[in-house]
Amino acid sequence: MIGFSLSHDELLCDGASLTAIAEAVGTPVYVYSSAVMRARYRELDEAFADHPHAIHYALKANSTLAIARLLRGLGSGADANSIWEIEVARRAGFVPADIVFTGVGKSLPELECAVALGVKAINVESSGELARVEAIADRTGAVARVAIRLNPDIDARSHPHISTGLKVNKFGVALGEAAALFASLDHRKALELVAIHVHVGSQITSVEPIQRSAALVARVAAALKQLGRRLEYLDVGGGFGISYDGGEVPTLTDYAAAILGELRGIDLPIVLEPGRSLVGPAGALVARVIDLKRRDGSSEFAVIDAGMTELMRPALYNAFHRIEPVQPRSRPERQYEVVGPVCESTDVVGRDRRLPRLEVGDLVAIRDAGAYGSAMASNYNRRPMPPEVLVDDGAWRIIRRRQTLDDLLAMES
Ligand code: LLP
Repeated sequence: MIGFSLSHDELLCDGASLTAIAEAVGTPVYVYSSAVMRARYRELDEAFADHPHAIHYALKANSTLAIARLLRGLGSGADANSIWEIEVARRAGFVPADIVFTGVGKSLPELECAVALGVKAINVESSGELARVEAIADRTGAVARVAIRLNPDIDARSHPHISTGLKVNKFGVALGEAAALFASLDHRKALELVAIHVHVGSQITSVEPIQRSAALVARVAAALKQLGRRLEYLDVGGGFGISYDGGEVPTLTDYAAAILGELRGIDLPIVLEPGRSLVGPAGALVARVIDLKRRDGSSEFAVIDAGMTELMRPALYNAFHRIEPVQPRSRPERQYEVVGPVCESTDVVGRDRRLPRLEVGDLVAIRDAGAYGSAMASNYNRRPMPPEVLVDDGAWRIIRRRQTLDDLLAMES
């Protein structure tokens, strides 16, 4: 069995015992399945097999070196959102030609570094940014490879905090302005327009917004071709949703069909920037119950040793993550409000969850935490970042050790 599965009343990851990992490494701890990441990557790659494509894993989802390396080993490129993610990508073995540089606010030093490296593309977000890239390229005698990120004014219908495609959102260039930018490129010799880019949001759970943005990219590419401007590829972004609650969401094949259906007749390769869909289901955050508090007329509180500092998604987006006992003994069920130890009432990991009666010391697994989990962890309350463990074929190893207070204080005087 790959991924997280029950065997003899115990939750395993790729055959490794979560109890044994928690005992050896302590809790809270992130545990990842290599097999699930590989399977998701292959599934996505096969879904797009009918069209030349390159997968650029969005490092923001989880850029722990070993995970970046694993994806590179599968043939992935990278989507980096800061100069620091570019550097992590390089240390994980990606070469600049494998890296697209995305993000709405790139500082001058970041742009200078990206131009000097010669990344596959700087995905430009505004006319001002394009001018800054041009000035840097001019000054250094480089020709900067750029993609223009379009703001298609498409509603991703995801959580408003992670929807990026509407004109009220800060992302991309409006279509009218993009047309003017394209026209201006004829005499801007330090810039090479290699692609157009869209990304309308994350955790998109219907194919329609993705299909509409692919249609728009296809239309713009065709119009540019008419004008004699040949692109190298089309960057259709990421955003494919996963099922957090076990309910149905489109498969990677459904998303691929929606995109490829719109690209018929377009003879350009595509770039994809998936993050969550590759690593989200591959991770669980394993935590221990440290207190139980009864209250009248409502769920009992189960206080665990992980909260919004380790996994911010429930507090920030009211996101749902399944919570499962690591050893689901046959005890009667009770209803719990599973909360973290942080000094805020928003620090709730799961509301009104029915779980076999918990006892202090029990382990729980918070599922589908491979994406935007450890990557968004913080040191609030001076809590050290949790360690991360990668399981491969039943064997596990620590890929990031637990942070210590000395690590934290080393930066202070
Ligand atoms: N490309 C661009 C330009 C992006 O901004 C993002 C995500 C991706 C690709 C990857 O999207 P994915 O395939 O992972 O959906 N912290 C939030 C998610 C923020 C996503 C930000 N951008 C969460 O925990 O749900």
